[in-house]
Amino acid sequence: MSNDIKIAIEKLHMGEVVAFPTETVYGLGADCTNTESVKKIFSLKGRPSFNPLIIHVANINSALKYGEFNRFALRLALAFWPGPLTLVVPLKKTHHHISPYVTAGLDTVAIRIPKHPIALELLQQYPHPIAAPSANKSGYVSPTKYEHVYDEFKDDVFIVKSDQSCIGLESTILDCSEEIVSILRPGFITKTDLEFFLGEPVTEGAAITAIKAPGQLGHHYSPTLPVRLNAVHVLENEALLAFGASDLNADIMLNLSPSGNLEEAAVNLFDHLRRLDKHVHHISKIAVAPIPNVGIGIAINERLARAAATKEKTSL
Ligand code: TXA
Ligand code: MG
Repeated sequence: MSNDIKIAIEKLHMGEVVAFPTETVYGLGADCTNTESVKKIFSLKGRPSFNPLIIHVANINSALKYGEFNRFALRLALAFWPGPLTLVVPLKKTHHHISPYVTAGLDTVAIRIPKHPIALELLQQYPHPIAAPSANKSGYVSPTKYEHVYDEFKDDVFIVKSDQSCIGLESTILDCSEEIVSILRPGFITKTDLEFFLGEPVTEGAAITAIKAPGQLGHHYSPTLPVRLNAVHVLENEALLAFGASDLNADIMLNLSPSGNLEEAAVNLFDHLRRLDKHVHHISKIAVAPIPNVGIGIAINERLARAAATKEKTSL
């Protein structure tokens, strides 16, 4: 076991919060049975207490202790875990003391088995599930690198070091608490993948209500600079977030994927937004080139739409 994982485990036992890598984004983790630790996540992030957290577990047996899995949930878990998929299922009555702060008092719980070897080892070595939101301040851009987490939390939390997250967008979240499956947050595993696998329609969008997914409302993932989408030209004082081969140019620009590869764009999205945001004193806006709305492009566009949403709306 690496020294970083040992330290993280000690800190979790002591009731501290630790940041750790997953294949999607870095998480800010606490022992989900320890209310005082879980509360620290909310205060460190500035997250409203009504926005519930995902619990991360090491294996399906552990997941079954905490959630009621219907036939869809079980099939999905067996097929896609470990991986970038979160299942929202009814919380089991005998749920082994998960703090009510984790679920924000809801009668459902969001569960995921991450695929990242460091996250998996941490979960295998720790006796309880780890509650973890993305390791960013509430409303800001999610972190995909050690440096992103350090930029925001400095030495306030111990951070397990790793390479850049290989997917780069948060997990797809599915509501499996009823007899139809609905997408609460798009991600790397797409609606097409899910419908193909289940052989049943999967709903989306309409299921996003304040009760079903409090964290899905309004502006989110937002850099300090305003974001302008589907830019076909770049204005003075704008930085450019480009995609693919294009004639657009700006003094300050980054390309999500010069070859037009959407998976590469997903990996780079949050890092590039953060890097452009560092120019806050030289530019007034980030113009984003159009991203094809197919495959993982749907999840990229969803994150960008929230990044561009005005801050007067609910900030979670
Ligand atoms: O990829 C990921 O999912 C990352 C890594 C760290 O696992 N985690 C993550 O957590 O993105 P967070 O807190 O940033 O986003 C989780 C979302 C929130 O919008 C929250 O509202 C929603 O999941 N959520 C959690 N529990 C829920 C529940 N019981 N019902 C509906 N939505 C829930
Ligand atoms: Mg988040």
